Amino acid sequence: MISLKNISFFSNDAQQILKNITFDIPTAKITAIIGTSGSGKTTLLRIIAGLSEPTSGEIWINGQNITALPKAKQQQVRSKMAIVFQHGALFDSLTAWENVAFPLYEQGTMPLAKIRDEAERLLQMVDLHSAADLPIDKCSGGMQMRIAIARALAAQPEIILYDEPSSGLDPIARGLICNLIQHQQVQQRMTLVLVTHQLSAAFQISNHFVFLYEGQIIFEGSADELMETADPYIQRFIQPPSRSYRTTDLVHS
Ligand SMILES: Nc1ncnc2c1ncn2[C@@H]1O[C@H](COP(=O)(O)OP(=O)(O)OP(=O)(O)O)[C@@H](O)[C@H]1O
Ligand SMILES: [Mg+2]
Repeated sequence: MISLKNISFFSNDAQQILKNITFDIPTAKITAIIGTSGSGKTTLLRIIAGLSEPTSGEIWINGQNITALPKAKQQQVRSKMAIVFQHGALFDSLTAWENVAFPLYEQGTMPLAKIRDEAERLLQMVDLHSAADLPIDKCSGGMQMRIAIARALAAQPEIILYDEPSSGLDPIARGLICNLIQHQQVQQRMTLVLVTHQLSAAFQISNHFVFLYEGQIIFEGSADELMETADPYIQRFIQPPSRSYRTTDLVHS
C-alpha cells in the first residue's frame, strides 16, 4: 500500500499546485486519479515517482515513511516502481526495440548480447514483436503507448504509474491499452495508478477512484461510492453531457 499524507506542492513562482493531498493506493489494485486538464494529475504522479519533491507532506510505502529516508534509500524503495509518461515520451531517433532496450543498457546488469532478445520478449508482451525494427515516427499513437509500456516493464516493476495512457487514441487502441493494464492487475497482481481525464476509460478497469480538482482531493472511494455521490461536479463526469449546460456546472463548489 502507498499512502500519501498531506502532500502539498508549490511551483517555483510560489503557486500552490497541490493542496494537502491525502489518499491511499491499495496493493494489487488499479487506482484511477481523475481530473480535468491542469488539476495537478501529472504533478502528483511525478511526486509519487520521486521525480519531483513535495513542498510538504509524507509518502508511505508498505508502512515506511520514505520521505524521511535519504535520497539513495528512497530510490531503492522506488526501484520497483515504473512510470509511463503522458504521450509515451519515447526517443524519436531510435527504433521500437532500441527504446525498450534503453533502460536495460542503463541498468548495466544484463549481458549486451541478451538485450535485443529481452527487448523483443517485452515487445511480445504488448503484442508488438513484429514492430521491433520500426522507427518511432512510423508507429501509430497506440503502438507508441504500448512500446512505452514495454519499456516500463523492462525494470520488472511491481508498481506502474500511467499518465493518460489512452488519451488521443481511437476506441480500438484504447481498448488494447485497457486490456493490457487490466491483465497486469489480474494476472500479475501489480499495483497500478491510472491518471486520466476520461472517467469512461477508468471506469471499466479501476477498483479505486480519486478525484482531483484544482489541486485538491474532492473524492476517494469505490466505483459504487462514486456512482452514489451527490457531488454535482463529479456527477458531470458520470452523466453524459446534456446539449446545453451552464459553465457553472463545471465548477466545483
Ligand atoms: N513546475 C511548474 N511550475 C509552474 N507551474 C506548474 C509547474 N508544474 C505544473 N504547473 C502548473 O500546475 C498545474 C497542474 O499541472 P499538471 O501538469 O499537473 O496538470 P494535469 O492535471 O496533468 O493536466 P493535463 O490533463 O493537461 O495533463 C497547471 O496549471 C500547470 O500549469
Ligand atoms: Mg498531465
